Amino acid sequence: MKRIGLLGCGAMGTQIALAIDSGKIPATLTHIFDASKEKSSILLEKLSNKPEIVENSHLLSSNPIDIVVEAASQDAVRDVSLSVLQNKKDLMIMSVGALLDESIYDILSDACKDFKKTIYLPSGAIAGLDGIKAIKNELDSLSITTTKHPRSLKGAKFFENSQINLDEINSPTVIFEGIAKDAVSQFPANINVAALLSLSGIGSEETSVKIVADPNTDKNTHHIVARGKFGKMTFTIENFPDENNPKTSRLAILSAIETLRKYCSDDIQIGT
Ligand SMILES: NC(=O)c1ccc[n+]([C@@H]2O[C@H](COP(=O)([O-])OP(=O)(O)OC[C@H]3O[C@@H](n4cnc5c(N)ncnc54)[C@H](O)[C@@H]3O)[C@@H](O)[C@H]2O)c1
Repeated sequence: MKRIGLLGCGAMGTQIALAIDSGKIPATLTHIFDASKEKSSILLEKLSNKPEIVENSHLLSSNPIDIVVEAASQDAVRDVSLSVLQNKKDLMIMSVGALLDESIYDILSDACKDFKKTIYLPSGAIAGLDGIKAIKNELDSLSITTTKHPRSLKGAKFFENSQINLDEINSPTVIFEGIAKDAVSQFPANINVAALLSLSGIGSEETSVKIVADPNTDKNTHHIVARGKFGKMTFTIENFPDENNPKTSRLAILSAIETLRKYCSDDIQIGT
């Protein structure tokens, strides 16, 4: 059985932990950490097989585990990723936006090779990355339009320097239009999907992103268009937000669980 350390005990971390506890993921959750002690304690209460709560995030990978699962924040990724690999542990990252900083991406990519360890980036709240990866060398353009209820965009850095008042929006309104690199730095908790898409395809400076606030929607919708020599692909994913965190889609959580299940199982692997 693989041994798992969990970093982040919020909406996503809790569902991942419950999937391990119920046996859906064939593994043992041995250690957990959250910057909020309360969050770790609340999670512990929900589990029948109790992991140890460690005192800081670096202690996760100094214990005998196979993989650290990050479901916390971009800051957490910047803080622990390298030491996880140096401690010869695999890593699964959900706060993928952190990797659009090219120096971080390059350092981690080199560390994977040096320490012979793997970083897993689940497809998260979108689908179709298998296709995008396959045709990445034949892409002419790649774009994503993300539509969310204004409450799902609240708290983003973008609004610190914007005149837009999300509470006053009463019809679908384009909030942001630009490249993935800028979208991810302005909306770090909302637009990991743009980071994933650009990493799978033609990079964060060539991937176009539009963010729409729609007060009439109850879904997080992503519409992806890829064009090139291969032809054209379009994907529309209409996600229900998680009930505990409207910024996070249910699919993102299920995608994390499936990636981890695959990592922990000896099985037939389906798809690219
Ligand atoms: N890849 C995707 O498609 C995708 C989709 C949804 C969410 N996400 C990302 O996954 C992460 C988790 O999402 P969530 O819905 O569970 O969020 P959440 O806010 O419900 O939970 C995050 C938890 O991490 C903890 N945390 C934050 N920074 C930390 C740090 N530096 N060290 C330790 N603990 C820390 C918080 O206290 C909180 O309990 C977020 O960064 C989110 O942006 C990715």
